Amino acid sequence: MKYLSILGSTGSVGCNALEIAGKFPERFAVKALSAAHNVELLAGQIKKFRPEIAVVLNASRALELKSRLPAGISVEIMHGQDGYRAAATHSSVDMVVVAIVGAAGLIPTLAAIEAGKDIALANKETIVMAGEIVSKTAAQKNVKILPIDSEHSAIFQCIVGHRKEDLDKILLTASGGPFLHKPEKEFSKITPEDALNHPIWRMGKKISVDSATLMNKGLEVIEAKSLFTVSQDMIKVLIHPQSVIHSMVSYRDGSVIAQLGIPDMKTAIAYAISYPERLPLEQPIPDFLNIEALTFEQPDSGKFPCLDLAYNACRAGGTMPVVLNASNEVAVESFLMQRISFVKIPEIISKTMDKHSVVVNPALSDIIETDRWARETAYKMVKL
Ligand SMILES: NC(=O)c1ccc[n+]([C@@H]2O[C@H](COP(=O)([O-])OP(=O)(O)OC[C@H]3O[C@@H](n4cnc5c(N)ncnc54)[C@H](OP(=O)(O)O)[C@@H]3O)[C@@H](O)[C@H]2O)c1
Repeated sequence: MKYLSILGSTGSVGCNALEIAGKFPERFAVKALSAAHNVELLAGQIKKFRPEIAVVLNASRALELKSRLPAGISVEIMHGQDGYRAAATHSSVDMVVVAIVGAAGLIPTLAAIEAGKDIALANKETIVMAGEIVSKTAAQKNVKILPIDSEHSAIFQCIVGHRKEDLDKILLTASGGPFLHKPEKEFSKITPEDALNHPIWRMGKKISVDSATLMNKGLEVIEAKSLFTVSQDMIKVLIHPQSVIHSMVSYRDGSVIAQLGIPDMKTAIAYAISYPERLPLEQPIPDFLNIEALTFEQPDSGKFPCLDLAYNACRAGGTMPVVLNASNEVAVESFLMQRISFVKIPEIISKTMDKHSVVVNPALSDIIETDRWARETAYKMVKL
């Protein structure tokens, strides 16, 4: 039996992770769950999975959660940072699934690694902000970090069993999002509703907007660089609108190995929580006889400047990816609240990056301070 803590259990990845745990009760038991605000869904998950701890963002949500649970249910309800840390480090947990969105994932992930828990990681922002600290701590604690992001799961699957020295390129595929073929002159009219309407994947709001700007791919380049310890120049992004190939790697003898599947996060989540075993998920495979074509395009950096901003942040290193991530979170949230237009997102990120002096080899305190500074700086631009 593997004992899981699922942080961000009410989100898109979190719900999928619970669905898998529920399908294999002889293999997985859920010891801790967490959400931020969605107490209604969390209460339902507690009734079904009976965790020992459940965590929400603040005291009022904790009270509301308590009021939604029948008297017979025994669960410790906690809130805030102490709560997330407790859920991440619970003594009987073997693996922590980090499906929190945004920078809020960083501290619980580090706490889990410090406590020696293996990590199934969806929260790419943690690696973007603090990849080196995360990798170093994981190595010290002998902790496995298994990627949930479908592209990184694909790369991981293409790399397993091969020599690192033979690796030539990582070919990171991207669907291109909902605006791949939209004329750039119409970008200023894009609404949050348009941006949330991803053609292939059903995901949370923040990652859906990131996919529409291609920032998601930029964050993934930084994530891949750190998870697979390669240089950013070895990572090439390919637009692949059918999303059948989840990513590929090429080797120095000219071989290319790809991982394919239907666009459903459950395969990647299941692989991360059951590695090296593959679970009998009963997922269909792609309908190869009816796929008309598998096509590839170069990303258009004029239309989607966020990808280049991410490469620049990656090249600058140190605290620059923290600035990229924080200013992006502020810009995306402001766009979703209709306070800025879609085209302002890269502008705010770029201007915030321009104002930053990089701290090389940052400590966790530098990362936290940079995150705070970048948010404040980006918010000022939203208000202008
Ligand atoms: N969705 C995908 O297919 C997918 C694919 C690859 C990678 N990812 C990555 O996985 C992560 C989660 O994505 P998602 O699409 O599942 O997001 P989501 O649907 O928005 O869910 C986010 C989860 O995090 C919780 N949360 C939000 N703010 C929080 C905070 N400040 N502190 C603690 N918990 C907080 C939410 O709780 P409430 O529900 O209560 O707000 C929810 O449980 C992201 O980093 C994303 O980039 C997602």
